[in-house]
Amino acid sequence: MKSFKLLGILLIVAFVLSACGGGTATGGEKPMEYKGEIKVAILAPLSGPVPTFGEMTRDGALLAIEEWNAKGGVNGYKIVPIVEDSQCTPDPAVNAANKVVNQDKVHYIIGEVCSKASIPISEIANAAKVVQISPTSTNPSVTVDANGKTKDFIFRACFIDPFQGQVGAKFAMENLGAKTAFIMLDQANDYVKGLAEFFEKSFTGMGGTVVGKESYTANDTDFSAILAKIADAKPDVVYLPDYYNIVNLVTKQAKEKGITVPFIGGDGWDSADLDKAAAAGGYFTNHYSSDDPRPEVQNFRKNFESKYGKVPDALAALSYDATNLMLQAIADTGEDNPEKVRLTLEKITFKGVSGTITFDASHNPIKSATILKVTPEKVIFESVVNP
Ligand code: PHE
Repeated sequence: MKSFKLLGILLIVAFVLSACGGGTATGGEKPMEYKGEIKVAILAPLSGPVPTFGEMTRDGALLAIEEWNAKGGVNGYKIVPIVEDSQCTPDPAVNAANKVVNQDKVHYIIGEVCSKASIPISEIANAAKVVQISPTSTNPSVTVDANGKTKDFIFRACFIDPFQGQVGAKFAMENLGAKTAFIMLDQANDYVKGLAEFFEKSFTGMGGTVVGKESYTANDTDFSAILAKIADAKPDVVYLPDYYNIVNLVTKQAKEKGITVPFIGGDGWDSADLDKAAAAGGYFTNHYSSDDPRPEVQNFRKNFESKYGKVPDALAALSYDATNLMLQAIADTGEDNPEKVRLTLEKITFKGVSGTITFDASHNPIKSATILKVTPEKVIFESVVNP
């Protein structure tokens, strides 16, 4: 008799478990029934040179998806994330995009982080009529082709680099009193190259002088030749618009050589793995600060921290926004139809954690920038610059 009861309980447990795995989910008390599934691909650099970018992007997107599913999904459909490691590098990014488009047959892509990966992904997505929103890729060419035509299916959730470069240049001149700048860049990185150009244009346009401009490659580990030129040129600031892995190497070697000129960078500096001791005294432009007291930010921060046990950076916030934006557009459209969803996006007004998003003709939102200061202990909020 006892063993029959036990068997019965086991069967019930097995039934509930299998039900959870097979298209229903628990939303509080009773299991939730969905009409079906909508797949959303998340393409992010989980390995390669900048893994914190990928982890934060994935985690922000998954939090948004979890919240929609807990509310019953989108139009009653469960959102199923498909996460692929696109490595912030063109070839793996193309492979990941082809896989999710051709094999998984997704209609929606969130990603990539890095402009040089988002640009080739955008070619694939646009040709396949798959809606792509890059949370963080700031180079203009992500949403616009070589002839200046907007790619119909491609959007982003962040400001673009002509603005970011201008904000950096203005800050250098007006707040740091800089009259001369030295620029360091990796010509093979669309983001770095673009941001360096836009900074130079703004800085010289405002009457500043660029006293040196030197290139390196992403594989370089010894920057002493360029640092020697900086020591000679004695600029008021050095502009280094690269990702945190390069910034760590360069600023550490600069400190070892006794170079005290402030380094200025862009959003690519935003990482828990930025070497703050090395980069201390530097400033960077960014999309958001987790210390922003706005309730939207603090609410998101609280939920993200309780799920993941870490403070969300700009990548997490923008990925959360990009995912919510995509899902809201599908919900507003009322059907899983990428042709219609992209038209909904063109007209949407979306209130996100990182600000309100409406798109211009090039599918770029107009948003303000934050300036952050690096100290040995932490990165501090300095100011906000509106477009
Ligand atoms: N803007 C960078 C690019 O386009 C990516 C990035 C955004 C990195 C935000 C860190 C934080 O490549």
